[in-house]
Amino acid sequence: MEINFYAPSSSILGIVIGSSNGAILSSSTIFASNEREFLKQKFEKLRKDSTKNVIFQSFLHQYGNNSAVIMQVADLVKTEISETEAQEIGAQIFVAAESIGEEEVVVDFSQNFSPGLVAHIAAGFKIRSFRFDKYKTEKQKHITINKAYFISSNQQLTEIAYKDISVVCNAVNFARTLSSEAPNVLYPEAMANEAKSLKRYGLKVDLFDEKDLTKFGMNALLGVAQGSVHSPYLAVCQWNGSDRSEPPIALVGKGVTFDSGGISIKPSHDMHEMKEDMTGAAVVLATMQMAAQLNLPINLVGAIGLVENMPSGTAQRPSDIVQSMSGKTIEIQNTDAEGRLVLADVLHYTETEFSPKCIIDFATLTGAIQVALGQEFAGLFSNNNTLSKKLRKAGILVQEKLWELPLDPAYDKDIDSNIADVKNVGSGRGAGSITAAQFLQRFISPETPWAHIDIAAVSHDKKERALTGAGFTGFGVRLMYAFLRDSTTTSFNT
Ligand code: BES
Ligand code: MG
Ligand code: ZN
Repeated sequence: MEINFYAPSSSILGIVIGSSNGAILSSSTIFASNEREFLKQKFEKLRKDSTKNVIFQSFLHQYGNNSAVIMQVADLVKTEISETEAQEIGAQIFVAAESIGEEEVVVDFSQNFSPGLVAHIAAGFKIRSFRFDKYKTEKQKHITINKAYFISSNQQLTEIAYKDISVVCNAVNFARTLSSEAPNVLYPEAMANEAKSLKRYGLKVDLFDEKDLTKFGMNALLGVAQGSVHSPYLAVCQWNGSDRSEPPIALVGKGVTFDSGGISIKPSHDMHEMKEDMTGAAVVLATMQMAAQLNLPINLVGAIGLVENMPSGTAQRPSDIVQSMSGKTIEIQNTDAEGRLVLADVLHYTETEFSPKCIIDFATLTGAIQVALGQEFAGLFSNNNTLSKKLRKAGILVQEKLWELPLDPAYDKDIDSNIADVKNVGSGRGAGSITAAQFLQRFISPETPWAHIDIAAVSHDKKERALTGAGFTGFGVRLMYAFLRDSTTTSFNT
């Protein structure tokens, strides 16, 4: 969908936004005087009936051969609203606007609304417009808006504000597109090629194939991949927006393009949802794209481990033992706890190769995180208070909220193995997300500020979310936008 901005005089037709004081904003260029009078009365009535304080009343108005959705919003000037709230309002406007059934709409914010506010409303409109319909044949596609004209009092400033925020929208939608893609299409090599295609934004991208991974000694990752006909990859993207000598911030993503569970096979009921098990990697790629397009003055590394977890005659067995790249040995007790095996090697590689100033990993790691936090907060684990605080603050800003759960040596006994250094599932009851994080921590040195974000419950929502509707959320991309845009000078030494 395309979004353009216009100055009030070029007002066409479509949606008119009224404020709660009953004024009809910029309607003079659109409606004849008798219609204006009608709308004014209608708004006054809506205002009286209105019980909600932000949005929304809307009704359909026919005039001539045209129809418009007339919407009433509260006085956004008086109500202090955040960027995120403005985006959520934009998303609601999209839902209302789409209900007209027109392919082009006009959203008129020409009076009293600051350019920044209009830009964020347009951004929410754009995020909510996301559809993954490439596999719908023409007839099955439902009509949606393909052009939106936002009328703003200061077209130029609005365009400037939107330019940056639209980069974020595109990154969010890129992550959602990758997560939505079918696993027979987006297998490890295909996703590695998605990473490679980010070169066009000025990123340095290196792909490592099975041979390279064997050379690195990434046997934990390789063990997960060995049951699949698709060979594994490690993709490493680098954005150098700062001095060469500046250590990078590193992002690591779990990229299991399909998680059947392997020999410890999952029940069939919800197995189809496991195409989303590469969402952590998608968030990392989308963030790398965003950093390059925003020309962020930071150094950033994004490393994703790409494998498919399948049962077969060559698959890894429960009770197998592998030696990870770090040298530590792992007893596999459950082949479905594969994400931590992939991350163990990619975290170790990233730490030793780049000596980053911090590492943040994104992973759909455990079903247990939904038991703990539902779908409102992602799970956060960290060995560094400054990093954790900063991430939580960014999360509140963009409403991608994080709740910190403990890491503690007391959980180590649950993952100690009788036969190897560590085992890949906890022996205690409960705390499944914590023991998974505690496992990861064994592959990070305590001096490296590190945070693990378990997005298993928030990457996808069957219920409608204000900004993203139902489906894939791209959770993590806007979080990284808020986190990275003021990360230039941060140090994490606590
Ligand atoms: N990919 C799953 C976790 C997951 C569950 C992601 C639901 C998204 C939605 C992960 O690989 C997994 O299977 N974890 C197991 C771990 C267990 C075997 C210790 C789990 O959560 O049951
Ligand atoms: Mg699994
Ligand atoms: Zn998994």
